[in-house]
Amino acid sequence: MRHLIAILTLCLSAPLLFAADLSGIWSSSVKRPDGHTDREVFVLQQSGNQLTGKVERPWGNLVIQQGSVDGNQFTLTARTEDGYTVAYDGTREGNKLHVTVHEPNAKPYELVAVSTKTDPFLGSNVIPPPALHELPPNGLAKTPPMGWNSWNLFAGRIDDKTVREMADALVSSGMRDAGYIYLNIDDTWQGDRDASGVIHSNNKFPDMKALAEYVHSNGLKFGIYSSPGPYTCAGYEGSYAHEAQDAETYAAWGVDYLKYDWCSASRLYSDSAMRAVYQKMGDALRATNRPIVYSLCQYGRDKVWEWGPKIGGNLWRTTGDINDTYKRMMEIVDKQSAIAIYDGPGHWNDPDMLEIGNGGMTTDEYRTHMSLWAIFAAPLLAGNDVRTMSTDTRSILMNKDVIAIDQDPLGKQGQLAFKRGNVDYWKRELSGSGAAIAVVNRANAPTSVTIPWADLGIASNFVFKEVWSGLDVKSQSGSSFTIPPHGVVLLRMEMVY
Ligand code: GLA
Repeated sequence: MRHLIAILTLCLSAPLLFAADLSGIWSSSVKRPDGHTDREVFVLQQSGNQLTGKVERPWGNLVIQQGSVDGNQFTLTARTEDGYTVAYDGTREGNKLHVTVHEPNAKPYELVAVSTKTDPFLGSNVIPPPALHELPPNGLAKTPPMGWNSWNLFAGRIDDKTVREMADALVSSGMRDAGYIYLNIDDTWQGDRDASGVIHSNNKFPDMKALAEYVHSNGLKFGIYSSPGPYTCAGYEGSYAHEAQDAETYAAWGVDYLKYDWCSASRLYSDSAMRAVYQKMGDALRATNRPIVYSLCQYGRDKVWEWGPKIGGNLWRTTGDINDTYKRMMEIVDKQSAIAIYDGPGHWNDPDMLEIGNGGMTTDEYRTHMSLWAIFAAPLLAGNDVRTMSTDTRSILMNKDVIAIDQDPLGKQGQLAFKRGNVDYWKRELSGSGAAIAVVNRANAPTSVTIPWADLGIASNFVFKEVWSGLDVKSQSGSSFTIPPHGVVLLRMEMVY
C-alpha cells in the first residue's frame, strides 16, 4: 500500500517538477550609460500557464495584468497605477530569465534576471528607525532659501558642464546678487558605492569636489539630493543604511544643502516611521559640523510641518510635485493657507520649486506663481534655464519688491483672507507692521476689482506699491484694477500718508 501511494505521488508531482515554473523572485541589474546601476525585479506566481505578480522598479511597482508561459517562454504586460504599461517577453534558462522589455515609445532593451531568495528592494531585515529626540535649530535659512535646482527643467539630463554653465549664468544674469545663491543638483548624479560603501558620482559628474569648488568660487552655495530609501525616485542609489557615511561624503565635497526625498523608503517604512527616518539624516548632517541646509521632501505626508523642525529640517515639501501648468500650480496654492502657522525663520513650508520661465504658463500666470510664493514666504528655487532667460522671466524672478516680500525677516507666511467670486485675496504680515496683499483673478477672463481695504484690515491711510507695475496705490481711495485672466495684483505697503 505504502509503495502504491509513493508511486501515485511521484506520478502526480512529476509534471509539476519538470514544468518551467517561474514562481519566485528574479532580479536584474543593468549598468546604464551614465554609469549607475538600474534594477528591475520580477516577483512572479505561476498557476498552470498563467503568470501573476508584479515588476518592481526603484520608483514603484507595475502590476502584472496578463502573463502566460509556454514551455520555457513567457510574455507579460504590467502597468503602474496611473496606467503606464510595459510589455515583456522572454525565455527561462536554468536560474536565469532572458527578457526583452518593451517600453511605450522606446526601443526594446534586453536584461537578464537571476533567481534570488530575497527581494533586493526590500532586503531581508529592515533597519529599525532610531528613537526620537529633538535637535536644536541649526541656525540656517533664517529667510527662505533662494537658488536654482536642476529638476524642473533638466530632470535626468543634468551634468557637470550644465551645472558650471548655470553657475556662470546665475552670476552674469544678476540672479546671484538678487539672492539666488544655492545651486542645487537634484536626482541622477549618483553612481554606485565602492567596496567600503562610499557613494561615488556617476560619469555625468566626474569630480563632485571640484564642481563644488567651482560653484563656491562663483560666490554660490552647492546643494545635492538623496533619499532615505535604497533608491531615489529616478532609481539611483539612495542613502539607506549609509546615512552617516553619505553625510560625511557630502561634507567632504563641500555640500551646503541636502534635499532628502522619501521615494523608495516607502517600501521599507510606513509613514509613521518617517519622522525617525528623517531624524537619522538630520543627526548625520549635524555630526559633520558643516552647516548644511536640510530640505525634507516627502510630499507633506504625516503632517511634516509639526515635526520637521524637531529633526533638524529647515524646509519641507507640503505637497506632491509641481509641474509647469497653471492648474497644478493653483492646486498646490490651495493647500498652503491651512498650514501657514507652521512657517517661520529657519523652518519653512515648501510648496515646491518654481516653474517660471519653463514655458507652460503665461507671463501673467508666472507673475501669480511668483507673487503667491512670496506671500507664502516660500523657498524660491528657480527651475528654468538661467542661461537663456527672456526679459519677462528676468523681470519676474528678479523683481526686488517681490523678493523683499518673500525674504521679509519676520518670516510669517500669508494666508487667504477671503474669496470673492473668482478673486482670491491673500494677505501677509511683514516686519515693521507692514503688509503685502495679493489679489488673484482665477477667471479665464479679465476681472475688475476695487480693493476692499477695510475688509483686509487696512484701516489707516497707506501708500502701497503695486509690485508688477511699480505704481503707487493709496488705501482708502478707490483703487480699482482690471486683472488679466489668471493674473495678480501684488501690493506692498510702503508708508503712511
Ligand atoms: C520627486 C521629487 C521631485 C524630484 C524627483 C527626482 O518626484 O518630489 O522634486 O526631486 O523626485 O526624481
